[in-house]
Amino acid sequence: MRSLAFAAAAALLAAVTFSPFAAPATAATPPRTRAAAHVRRQPQTLPWWQHAVIYEVYPRSFKDSDGNGIGDLNGIRSKLAYLHWLGVNAIWLTPIYPSGGVDGGYDIIHYKQIAPVYGTMADFHHLVAAAHRDHIHVFMDLVLAHTSNQNPWFLASRRSRRGPYATYYIWRDGHNGGPPNNWISLFGGSAWQYDSLRRQYYYHYYYRQEPTLNWRNPKVRRDMFARARFWMRQGVAGFRLDSVGTLLVDPRFPNNPPGTMRTGDFPLPQQHHKYNYNQPGVHRILQALRRVVAPYHGLLIGETVGKTAAQISRFYGTPRHPEIQLPFNFLFADVNRLSAPAFRRQIAAWTHNPAHGTPVWFFDNHDQPREVQRYGHGGNNASPDNAKIARLLPTLLFTLRGTVLIYYGQAIGMTTTPPKKRSDVVDPMGRRFWPVFKGRDGERTPMQWTPGPDAGFSPPGTKTKPWLPIPPSYKRFNVATERAQPHSLLHYYRRLIALKRQDPALRRGAWISIHRHDPAVLSYLRRRRGETVLVAINMSNRRQVENYHLGAKDAVVLADSLRAEPPRLNLGRVVLPPYEAVVARVSR
Ligand code: NOJ
Repeated sequence: MRSLAFAAAAALLAAVTFSPFAAPATAATPPRTRAAAHVRRQPQTLPWWQHAVIYEVYPRSFKDSDGNGIGDLNGIRSKLAYLHWLGVNAIWLTPIYPSGGVDGGYDIIHYKQIAPVYGTMADFHHLVAAAHRDHIHVFMDLVLAHTSNQNPWFLASRRSRRGPYATYYIWRDGHNGGPPNNWISLFGGSAWQYDSLRRQYYYHYYYRQEPTLNWRNPKVRRDMFARARFWMRQGVAGFRLDSVGTLLVDPRFPNNPPGTMRTGDFPLPQQHHKYNYNQPGVHRILQALRRVVAPYHGLLIGETVGKTAAQISRFYGTPRHPEIQLPFNFLFADVNRLSAPAFRRQIAAWTHNPAHGTPVWFFDNHDQPREVQRYGHGGNNASPDNAKIARLLPTLLFTLRGTVLIYYGQAIGMTTTPPKKRSDVVDPMGRRFWPVFKGRDGERTPMQWTPGPDAGFSPPGTKTKPWLPIPPSYKRFNVATERAQPHSLLHYYRRLIALKRQDPALRRGAWISIHRHDPAVLSYLRRRRGETVLVAINMSNRRQVENYHLGAKDAVVLADSLRAEPPRLNLGRVVLPPYEAVVARVSR
């Protein structure tokens, strides 16, 4: 199954470029609460976010504290000890604002409120303060490009072509009895929706319930930036910016050329989003937003999609005009096949370009099938290789230079569980494209905490079922069970995270590709001052034997994905069974 982001990336290939915080501080005095200052004081030689592990929490699915089958803020707070134990530096919360409930919270109604289903503003402040005590930073998700069609701005915009909100959205008259042009929505159908009240069409890149804002209107910019400041004042570390490529459209509204992309089994319409994606002015908006968060030391993580590493890295901006500190690298995430040459190319493209800032490596998020479904054989642990591949992938992720993003459930090997019947689907796209694409519910199922009822997602004795079904495999793949097994995937993640945080070469050493033409084994060094760490990953289904000329006879194993670590590796003859990954210190 092709993922949403993969499909978006594929579309681009075809496109032209395709605390309690009682005292709110003012912008002049950056609002650093005591708790936040505590986090800042951690001894670091490199800013923490340049070698961090950020954990994506999908709040609806993380932990239900009040027994209504839906995760919430107090639930997240109750699991901070777990996240601290795992070793993450930050959490990113997908949207927790009041929303229309159509697009998993990304259709926001009120930007300065917490949806009651998740808790209250006081709960949010408690969560941030508790996270800071555990040295965990909190990122909010900020959707700048669109709102819900129930947002008060949109309601006012519909009502009048002349009122104060008339041009907050993109409104056009129809053309020849149809929509203004041929633009199609990423989520299916025309990107234009006729509104009978205003008697015009409005533009939406995603669902029709998500009208796109008109960022050419300076008031939109002013009001959205005010919302960004509001959240910075609540003590967040910054934002994960949703869909930055859709912030602007070409004001001439030309028709998009047809696409030539292979759609695979993802039913995306074929169109180059030439005039409504990654338009040049987007960079100026991001530069302005960076200036907004700068007084708060705010960090921007961006959902950035581009055809090449060079294109994505434009989102770092320049030293004079900085933009996003941490733009997502979907090109790496969606290699979507275990291929040493393909991964080598992607890593090298980021590592060797001096224009690039901190790379952001990830595989999973709330929009795409979980990694084992994409890199394993067939998913749902059907193949015995999948368990090996589930350990190979994090070995790669945590031994690269830069920041790593992981998704809840990834560290325990949760698998994608698509809905069984169309009538069970929550994500509207899944209903629209059933059965070819079943939507994104499968990667959003509740976190599996225990082998007990409802995987410990809801409190004991809860009668209400979790909002999405939990697969039977939870009895094996859950936090409690895996914490009790020293060789579990969970402990392996924890080990790798600790290595990434503590080992100087893994934390900030250069990345050096070796055995560059090997089709099966991805080998590289991480080197800093006198220390060299070797990483060797057998991406093939065959046993491989490697001979490393590194000026030493053997190396000390730091992590081995399959075997209880043999203490030393004979560098002249490293035998790697299928899908084995090993990390070893050559010298210090
Ligand atoms: C990207 C988000 O990750 C996705 O979940 C959402 O549907 C779209 N942007 C629209 O906000």
